[in-house]
Amino acid sequence: MVNFNFKNPTEIFFGKGSVDQLGPALKKYGASNVLFHYGGGSIKTHGIYDQVVKALNGAGISFTELGGVVPNPRLSLIKEGIALCREKKIDFILAVGGGSVIDSAKGIGVGAVYSGDVWDFYTDKASPEATLPVATILTIPAAGSEASFSSVVTNDDGAYKRPLDVPVLYPAFSILDPEYTYTLPPYQTACGICDMFVHVCERYFTQDMENDLTDRLCEATMRAIINNALTVMAKPRDYAARAEIMWCGTIAHNNILSTGRTGDWASHLIEHELSAINDVAHGAGLSIIVPNWMKYVYKHNTQRFVQFAERVFDIKDSSPETAINKGIDALRAFFSSIGLPATLTEIGIGEDSFKGIGEKTKKFDTQKGTVGNFYPLTGSDIEAILKLAK
Ligand code: NZQ
Ligand code: ZN
Repeated sequence: MVNFNFKNPTEIFFGKGSVDQLGPALKKYGASNVLFHYGGGSIKTHGIYDQVVKALNGAGISFTELGGVVPNPRLSLIKEGIALCREKKIDFILAVGGGSVIDSAKGIGVGAVYSGDVWDFYTDKASPEATLPVATILTIPAAGSEASFSSVVTNDDGAYKRPLDVPVLYPAFSILDPEYTYTLPPYQTACGICDMFVHVCERYFTQDMENDLTDRLCEATMRAIINNALTVMAKPRDYAARAEIMWCGTIAHNNILSTGRTGDWASHLIEHELSAINDVAHGAGLSIIVPNWMKYVYKHNTQRFVQFAERVFDIKDSSPETAINKGIDALRAFFSSIGLPATLTEIGIGEDSFKGIGEKTKKFDTQKGTVGNFYPLTGSDIEAILKLAK
């Protein structure tokens, strides 16, 4: 087990009706003048907006609204939010929505207390040391941003999508009501399920062996996601299954599953460049990349992939190679069973873009010139994975 520091400060209010905790929690965390940030309007259609406004008014908290966050959130709206925070002297940001809204709120939070260009933080030119506090009301279990130290933003100029990972980005608190997820379109539910599953994979596929507890926590989370996924797809209003999926999404990315090991993250970095060029939903891009990443890298630690096949999909075979391939095929079949794409052709990305994606992803780490840790990938490795995913 490698040494680690673990601290996740985000307070979670989980369950039916937990929006009742909003007013008291905002007061507890010192909010008096809030930026209420949301997306394209689903919260208005489904009644969440009204509940939030009622809670804010009931607590006597003044607020300014900023809607319009799009999936794969844009830097331009973050800059607008920063200007609004300064103009209105906002002291707290409330994000109501999914990962895109939350990541946009986090960008606004760090940008509002910084005198330079907020994009500096996403390009390693500066590191944020402070933020306006951010709280979230989650409406889609997927990105895990409700309890993560990350924000992923797309720069409208040049279509770069970049993550920022720093502890100041942990939200102060997050409200998770599984009933808020009943209205999700099936495709969004499926994309969210894939994203959370892959958050576990990125941590599970490590070269740091001898980390049994974290392995088994990862395996339990992956099995719980699979066990409940088909139920939520078939019965969107099944509270028990929605609740399991919602909590899996948070556990998958709150860093408890990172303890004692170095994660990989290459698949995420490759996917971010797919989203940047054609706006594909993050989970859909991952469902294409991850099984092909697995096919490409498994030879660099077959034991780990045999364990994955056996403990996550109950696959045993006297030939390790056969077990591994069956495990990867089982994962592909799981993604297909919930309606996710398997090839780049299905999402309209052709071979002519592969080299560019490889180069752009590789540039993410200019010092090493490679991405990922399980098996560090060069630009041409990434191109080869994209060819497998064609
Ligand atoms: O815009 P609205 O109207 O809110 O509609 C959204 C959006 O169209 C809709 N939706 C959300 N909740 C709904 C709903 N529709 C009906 N009923 C509801 N209850 O779903 C669509 C997708 O929303 P989005 O926020 O984009 O989804 P998600 O949570 O998957 O977030 C994706 C973003 O998070 C980033 C991704 O790269 C992507 O940009 N990630 C953030 C991470 C983090 N901060 O820790 C880690 C992840 O790996 C990921 O990279
Ligand atoms: Zn993700």
